Amino acid sequence: MKVPLLLVVTVWLNSQRGGCSLSSSCSYPPAKWCSSPESAVQCGVLKPCLVSNFTKSRQTADPIQVGLYYESLCPGCRMFLTEMLFPTWLMLGDIMSVTLVPYGNAQEKPDGSKYIFECQHGAQECLGNTIETCLLNMTNMAFPIIFCMESSSDVIGSAKTCASLYSPELDWGKVMKCVNGDAGNQLMHQNALETAALKPPHQYVPWITINGEHTEDLQDKAMASLYNLVCSMYKGTKPPACGGSQRHFRSDCHNK
Ligand SMILES: *[C@@H]1O[C@H](CO)[C@@H](O)[C@H](O)[C@H]1NC(C)=O
Ligand SMILES: *[C@@H]1O[C@H](CO)[C@@H](O)[C@H](O)[C@H]1NC(C)=O
Repeated sequence: MKVPLLLVVTVWLNSQRGGCSLSSSCSYPPAKWCSSPESAVQCGVLKPCLVSNFTKSRQTADPIQVGLYYESLCPGCRMFLTEMLFPTWLMLGDIMSVTLVPYGNAQEKPDGSKYIFECQHGAQECLGNTIETCLLNMTNMAFPIIFCMESSSDVIGSAKTCASLYSPELDWGKVMKCVNGDAGNQLMHQNALETAALKPPHQYVPWITINGEHTEDLQDKAMASLYNLVCSMYKGTKPPACGGSQRHFRSDCHNK
């Protein structure tokens, strides 16, 4: 079994500093250090070998769930969605899942069996929220389509073109039937209930949850770099996009 060069270099570096010194009873050549628990113990490298083996087996863990409670026309929401959330999801889609809830600070009033909505940025925003909600319900390409809408100068005007780009087979007539009908109304009501159920209650938009939890600290970290937050919170083997396992080897010796 091949010992990663990094491991050898790090152990050597640390032995120079007196960090993780090699046991003098080590009778194995470096290439054999990790070949068995016995050789690893004898050569004083059990922990790095276990970490190395662990990394190779690519342990998987639950994906980090990122929730975004937002409004289709809120500038801060658009910036977070297009410049942070979508690119992070493209790179780290294997270890994260995204839930989008377009509603934010909207208000609803029951009107018979339906609901009337009022949105912070006016009726156009309610329309944008409902289009995005119907898309989320009708196609698994909703996130790229919503990204396309939110990054265009005309969020609502671009909707149909964005849909035809990312999901050519999607029938736009059916989407608009959802938007203007009971289905869209009921789905928006679900968004209202989900937003109202947030604990703590949301105070602003974009409002971010990580694994269902919202704290000021998580919000700040997500806004500063969602990418780093997801990488650092993921409990399984970090994907190469997270920068490899270099730090494991270093901290392993320093903690000894
Ligand atoms: C590392 O994995 C190899 C192959 O699975 C195994 O033979 C070896 O004993 C493991 N080393 C340690 C230190 O557990
Ligand atoms: C779409 O909405 C309907 C009605 O609320 C629901 O039964 C269905 O599970 C939703 N589908 C998806 C993919 O969200």
